Amino acid sequence: MTSKKVIVVFGATGAQGGSVARAILENKKFAVRALTRDVTRPKALELRDLGAEVVKGDLNDKASIEAAFQGAYGAFVVTNFWDHLSKEKEVCQGKMVADAAKRLGLKHVVYSGLENVKRLSGGKLEVPHFDGKGEVEEYFWSIGVPMTSVRLAAYFENFLTLWKPAKASDGDYYTLALPMGDIPMDGISVADVGGVVSSIFNSPEEFFGKAVGLSAEALTVQQYADVLSKSLGKEVRDAKITPEAYEKLGFPAAEEMANMCRFYRMRPDRDVKLTHRLNPKVKSFSQFLAENKGALKGI
Ligand SMILES: NC(=O)c1ccc[n+]([C@@H]2O[C@H](COP(=O)([O-])OP(=O)(O)OC[C@H]3O[C@@H](n4cnc5c(N)ncnc54)[C@H](OP(=O)(O)O)[C@@H]3O)[C@@H](O)[C@H]2O)c1
Repeated sequence: MTSKKVIVVFGATGAQGGSVARAILENKKFAVRALTRDVTRPKALELRDLGAEVVKGDLNDKASIEAAFQGAYGAFVVTNFWDHLSKEKEVCQGKMVADAAKRLGLKHVVYSGLENVKRLSGGKLEVPHFDGKGEVEEYFWSIGVPMTSVRLAAYFENFLTLWKPAKASDGDYYTLALPMGDIPMDGISVADVGGVVSSIFNSPEEFFGKAVGLSAEALTVQQYADVLSKSLGKEVRDAKITPEAYEKLGFPAAEEMANMCRFYRMRPDRDVKLTHRLNPKVKSFSQFLAENKGALKGI
């Protein structure tokens, strides 16, 4: 049995929770109780090998979350909108966790939140994967849970998957289609989020009740393209797509993504300086690409 205080980490087999669990284990101040629906998953076993206690828990099963919170000091909470694409479900899961944290007297929760864009824009813009997290943030605070919200910038990892450069049809170059115009967009490697969250757990008094916007740096789409060009040795250009054209692209979340970029164009508060203070190892986009070059080999 460990004498360290225990932090329950949601999504520990995923990108955010995995980064947080590893950083807390490396820091050694707290013990990690990693939550997963399947304790036999290879990623769960890896965490066990690193020293985490791995427990079964499901955001759709209140009893399992209350059991995971027994005797815990704190929790890192992330919910995955993209698992089900339902704002209502994400809100329901988040509020259930907030109620459980309150009932079991957790001393510090770090919640992966985002802005309630619908409320902030007076109903003009809807970004369901933001809006639900914003509602849950407000709920945590309204019931008096000592909670810090971390609002992440777009993952740099998106440039290796969803946003990877596309071959142009009219020449030997690639394009990046993100409807940001010339306005810088904040980004961060999700692998660097854990270091930030671990520092927040180490200084609770400074962060109780606050929302902290995380960003490694903010670049325009052309600047992201320039860094990609340099790293890949292939020309990458801003496709200069408008939000109106983007939302007509026809893939399931096209309208939601266009609205997200409309919101990003308003430059929501992401604090580059604080992010670097909390995790001095945060990588720039250029450093991130240098470490992940292989992932774009096939383009
Ligand atoms: N991509 C971006 O740029 C970006 C930026 C800011 C915020 N976000 C937000 O990040 C969230 C996704 O986080 P991620 O990237 O870390 O996801 P991820 O890598 O896909 O991992 C999802 C995690 O959620 C867990 N999970 C899913 N459903 C669960 C349930 N019912 N009960 C318990 N655990 C459950 C999974 O655990 P098991 O399968 O092991 O149970 C897994 O560990 C989304 O809500 C998204 O809006 C993304």
